[in-house]
Formats: sequence, C-alpha cells, structure tokens
Amino acid sequence: MNKDIPAIVDAVIDSRYSCRAFLSTEVPKQLIEEILAIAARAPSGTNMQPWKVWVLTGSSKQRLSERLVATFDDPEEAATHTETFAYYPKKWLSPFIERRRKVGIELYKLLDIQKGDAERMHKQHARNFQFFDAPVGLIFTIDTTLEQGSWMDYGMFLQNIMLAAKARGLDTCAQAAFLQFHRIISEDLELPENETVICGMALGYADPDAPENTLRTERAPLSEWVTFKP
Ligand SMILES: Cc1cc2nc3c(=O)[nH]c(=O)nc-3n(C[C@H](O)[C@H](O)[C@H](O)COP(=O)(O)O)c2cc1C
Repeated sequence: MNKDIPAIVDAVIDSRYSCRAFLSTEVPKQLIEEILAIAARAPSGTNMQPWKVWVLTGSSKQRLSERLVATFDDPEEAATHTETFAYYPKKWLSPFIERRRKVGIELYKLLDIQKGDAERMHKQHARNFQFFDAPVGLIFTIDTTLEQGSWMDYGMFLQNIMLAAKARGLDTCAQAAFLQFHRIISEDLELPENETVICGMALGYADPDAPENTLRTERAPLSEWVTFKP
C-alpha cells in the first residue's frame, strides 16, 4: 500500500466539518453521481444498501425550500408538523447537554447572535431549509420496513458522501432539521408511501468568507470514552 494513504485518509476525515454557508457555484451532475457512487461502497447488513437519495437542484430545490421556510415562519402551522422519529434525546443529560450547548454558543458567537435573540436564531435555523444556499440539496430516505441495523448502515453511507465530497474540494452539512417537515417533503417530492425521510444534506463549495465556516468542533479525549480491557 502507498505509505501516504493513511495521512491522506486522515486528512480528509479531519478536514470535514459542517459547512453552513455555500457559494452559488454549481456542482456538475457527473460529480454528484461520482460522489454518490463511491459512497454506496459503504457496507450494509447482507448488502441491503438501504439508501435512497433525492438530489435537488435549481427549481426543485427552490420550491421545496420556499415551502419549508414559509411553514417554519408560521408558528401555528409549524406546530402541526412533528418528526417521524426522534433524532435527539427527549431528556438531555451530561455529557451530551454540555457538548450540544458548546456548539450552539460557538456558532452563535461567530454569527454575532446574542443569547435570547429569538428572531436571529429563528432566521439562522431557517437557513437549514435553504440548504445554507448550497446549489445541491440532498434528501435521504429509507424503506419503513427496515430496522435499526439498516439505519446504522445508512450512517456509514452518509459519512462516505461527506468524505468523498471533501476529497473533491466540496463541503457538506448533514441536516436533521428537515425531519420536522417530512410530510411536506414527502408530498413535494412525491415520495413512495414506504419511504421515510432520514435527514437532508447541503452539498457545494464552501463560502470561505463566511464566519460560521470557521467553526471547528472539538472531540472528547479517548480517555473519556475508550476502555481497554487487557
Ligand atoms: C445526522 C446529522 C444531522 C445534523 N443536523 C444538523 C442540522 O440540522 N443543522 C445543522 O446546522 N447542523 C446539523 N448537523 C451538524 C452537527 O451539528 C455537527 O456534525 C456537529 O456539531 C459536529 O461538528 P462538525 O460536523 O463540524 O465536525 C448534523 C449532523 C449530523 C451527523
């Protein structure tokens, strides 16, 4: 094996971050296909390949974004929409609560959003529904008959997309924000009844001048989560 490969793979993994501001530069369809094809080399139990991807660009992306933002901006209407599955815990306990808070505080600091500024927080959350202006919006769905194991496989596929994109100079942000509005997404994309939304993802070229793109999250040291049993 080429001795440079570990360093290259590590550099790709390490340089991936959640990008929350994109340039309008288009991503060629062939490049999107290339990323998805290599990402689908992800393993899955009995090679089930549980993923289905809906690639939105141009008017399809704009139409969905407009519908989602309009719903999100209408609190009464938004309250009628709930997630099909809970991505986040119902009860936030340590150490997860502290980690979550830290990311939020750091992101809002970069964006100069003050604590309690509900309007600007709302606007920033709404940017999720515009895929942070990325030219490509991906919606991921899974067959409702599949179990937790397939959801685990799905995560490997998603990470592969993010790394394959990064290796090609593109950036991404996985987005659970879409889950609340899965009904609108299903209707708008005319999803088959047996498909349920897992998450979304913004894909494109990072805006190098956006302060939010300078956020680099830390990771807990191994001593907090690894136990060697000799
Ligand atoms: C499945 C998944 C869903 C996520 N959903 C959102 C989201 O809706 N909006 C957002 O801004 N970030 C979202 N994130 C990004 C996380 O906040 C981010 O991965 C975490 O803070 C670690 O930062 P990093 O990705 O920059 O390393 C999501 C990440 C994952 C893996």
